[in-house]
Amino acid sequence: MTASFIPPKRVLMGPGPSDVPQRILDAMARPTIGHLDPAFVDLMEQIKSMLRMAFQTQNALTFPVSAPGSAGMEMCFVNLVEPGDKVIVCRNGVFGGRMLENIKRTGGVPVIVDDAWGKPVDPQKVRDAFKAHPDAKVFAFVHAETSTGAQSDGEVLGRIAQEFGALTIMDCVTSLGGTPVYLDKWGIDAAYSGSQKCLSCTPGLSPVSFSERAIEKIRARTTPVQSWFLDLNLVLGYWQSAGKRTYHHTAPINPMYGLHEALVILEEEGLENAWARHRAMHEKLKAGFEGMGLKYVVEASARLPQLNSIHVPEGVDEAAVRARLLSEFNLEIGAGLGDMAGKIWRIGLMGYSAKQENVDYCLKALKACLPGSA
Ligand SMILES: Cc1ncc(COP(=O)(O)O)c(C=O)c1O
Repeated sequence: MTASFIPPKRVLMGPGPSDVPQRILDAMARPTIGHLDPAFVDLMEQIKSMLRMAFQTQNALTFPVSAPGSAGMEMCFVNLVEPGDKVIVCRNGVFGGRMLENIKRTGGVPVIVDDAWGKPVDPQKVRDAFKAHPDAKVFAFVHAETSTGAQSDGEVLGRIAQEFGALTIMDCVTSLGGTPVYLDKWGIDAAYSGSQKCLSCTPGLSPVSFSERAIEKIRARTTPVQSWFLDLNLVLGYWQSAGKRTYHHTAPINPMYGLHEALVILEEEGLENAWARHRAMHEKLKAGFEGMGLKYVVEASARLPQLNSIHVPEGVDEAAVRARLLSEFNLEIGAGLGDMAGKIWRIGLMGYSAKQENVDYCLKALKACLPGSA
């Protein structure tokens, strides 16, 4: 007979998921109710309202997609890009590359703005791309590139796209709840995030938000959205209009309890306090790394507090160190992706993981695993 699965107790300091507080796990263990039950409808309304706070938006169409961040990404592209639409897309890491894949699959015509991995998106290159392609209808960038730890300037990039009359899609999977995100102030038309990063919920839900301009573009489409599940015209009947909700799919009820609790916790702490906590923990971790002679990949001005990427010291077997951290210390940190595989570590300070105890533990464990330690 197969035994029940009991997961090992880990400290999660990789690029996500982050540690999930017991309070959220407890919320998820409450009894399942029906997804059209009036009590669940109330819960959905509360989630939508708290997500507006987290995204800093008044957008009515703000809700969690019943699937991970990648589905939120796909929802933005399949709805906002029609075959033949020109899309300026920034690529400075793995996730910009995934945006590009989405554009190609929707039949969009991509104009790629490349920046080196580890650098933020260069606004001048974006401006030049718009000047060369004034017919671009959509602009897409990753606010917090989890593959490198670089943060781009959402405010400046959003303004450029508005100047040229394009709709902006922003990936804020790793930034939401960890560093400032202001959808309305920055003029972002579509944004998607994930439940498992700075919100510290379990993986599997993708908060998204769409402006009125974005909805107009979707309503004016001349071709159907090629994904049935992600077609906003259909999802709207489920997530909007609390009074006359119609069946679209069966929402993951218990994970929604978890997301609700995560947002209640965020409200209790205060959004700006949460941002400040991520920054403060980053400063402490950084001081410890510097004391150990470890070097950051990203220049200080563009560094994400919640994702610290550092160069693996010369001669160190990075995979062996990560394996030892996991087996001896139960500590998970992240490896490099793509060209950075084998060369960097990515240490997350996201959500509930962004606390003094974790900073101290990570420094102690890493010290013990690096050459020169006792
Ligand atoms: C910036 C970014 N975008 C998109 C995703 C995809 O999210 P998920 O893994 O929840 O599908 C991730 C996940 O790490 C991410 O970091």
